[in-house]
Amino acid sequence: MEDLKLAVLAYIAENPVVESSLDLAKKLNVTHNEIVGALKSLGPDTIQFLNLEQLETKRWELTADGEDYILNGTPEKRLFDTLPAEGVAMKELPKDTITQLGTNYGKVNGFFAIEAGKLKRVSETIVDKDAELLRDVQADKEITEDQSKLLLKRKTIKLAVTKYFKVSKGEKFALTLPKLATDLTHDMIMKGSWATTEFKKYNFNALGKEIELGNLHPLMKVRAQFKDVLLEMGFEEMPTNQYVESAFWNFDTLFQPQSHPARDSHDTFFVKDPASAEIPDKEYWEKVRNAHEKGGYGSIGWRYPWQDEEAKKNILRTHTTAVSAKMLYKLAKDTEKDGEFKPKKYFSIDRVFRNETLDATHLAEFHQVEGLIADRGLGFAHLKTVISVFFKKIGLEKIKFKPAYNPYTEPSAEIFAFHPILNRWVEIGNSGVFRPEMLGPMGLPSDVSVIAWGLSLERPTMINYNIGNIRDLFGHSVSVKEIRSNAICCFQK
Ligand code: PHE
Repeated sequence: MEDLKLAVLAYIAENPVVESSLDLAKKLNVTHNEIVGALKSLGPDTIQFLNLEQLETKRWELTADGEDYILNGTPEKRLFDTLPAEGVAMKELPKDTITQLGTNYGKVNGFFAIEAGKLKRVSETIVDKDAELLRDVQADKEITEDQSKLLLKRKTIKLAVTKYFKVSKGEKFALTLPKLATDLTHDMIMKGSWATTEFKKYNFNALGKEIELGNLHPLMKVRAQFKDVLLEMGFEEMPTNQYVESAFWNFDTLFQPQSHPARDSHDTFFVKDPASAEIPDKEYWEKVRNAHEKGGYGSIGWRYPWQDEEAKKNILRTHTTAVSAKMLYKLAKDTEKDGEFKPKKYFSIDRVFRNETLDATHLAEFHQVEGLIADRGLGFAHLKTVISVFFKKIGLEKIKFKPAYNPYTEPSAEIFAFHPILNRWVEIGNSGVFRPEMLGPMGLPSDVSVIAWGLSLERPTMINYNIGNIRDLFGHSVSVKEIRSNAICCFQK
């Protein structure tokens, strides 16, 4: 670019007025685009070395059909050449475009006449008038307005507009390029040199550089919205930053018997090293054993020998309810310490792991949203109301409850939401009132009940972002482009 600018300046020094930048491009052996770039950077809007006057020429150019007519004759000429002397019955003429055009224009130009239903030539030879006209256009000869109208109508020519500059010496013409300052510096201000420095003009029309920045994954956007809703409803977030839990917290404290199929290696990931956890609180440990083996708190228990080894196993948590159990245990401890029970509303949104066969709706890891309220006098009706309010705030107005079974809740209910786009009821979560066999061993006062619910984060995210396959949402086949461009999460309220 620098070299081209200098070459332009040298040329203008010799030829102070250049009528067309098109010629200049030819003289300097570069494309017209390149010349225009150089001229603009030397022109009146920048350093005023040159004056530029924008001009344009309009000329007729041949279309592909126009070229074809020059080369092979117009359709009427072609038809004339192939028509037998006795003519052809109009009905028998082929139906192709060339014959049709040839018939029409041949009649207009007086090549043919129709006699007794036959198309016939009127003379031995003809002059292919329109092809001659096209040759004039090709040779850049002037044509009349009527002639151009005719050729335009035949789609054989088009108007080509060429924009170019007339170039002349500008006010500040020089043969060398100044070094323009691009920024005002601290030094210039201190030394006062800013007053005499020539600055490069800002180009406010230039496109900005694309900014490289991080983008939130849709799951994180939905998580942020759910978090806002739950905080707004007065819930406190539980610490869920520990993926490895002991089976004790994940299952046993939740009164889930050790023979429960969910504990099977088909559903649960076991940790090899360290394979087992320490006993957190011997007294509580024994109370949990007792609840499983003998019951209490109005229950007869599961009646089987409860194994320490099974409870000590380290696993990847299969649900965030493991964290809820820990928090409720802690709440019971605080109640003992303070001599007073304080009601709590807790929530969490974090990752859980299940040894699933992967398919369009299942992954081995996903996220759960979980909420619980511990207070005196709470029942199923409260649970239904809290859940309805929560779901309404995330845009799901119509909610249904279906009786279900969880080892740790009674009553339990699956939550279904009516999906307005799918136009059907979809299962969206699970809920219940925690059992006394779970809360009793922790030491919570017997009149305190805990209502809780859980749902996956993936399902509402897929609904909101219209994602059909969970693998397009999570994992290595997610499109980074999608992540960069997807909208902020907005559940209609
Ligand atoms: N833990 C349950 C699940 O994984 C959800 C749940 C949470 C159910 C709290 C009831 C109470 O599906």
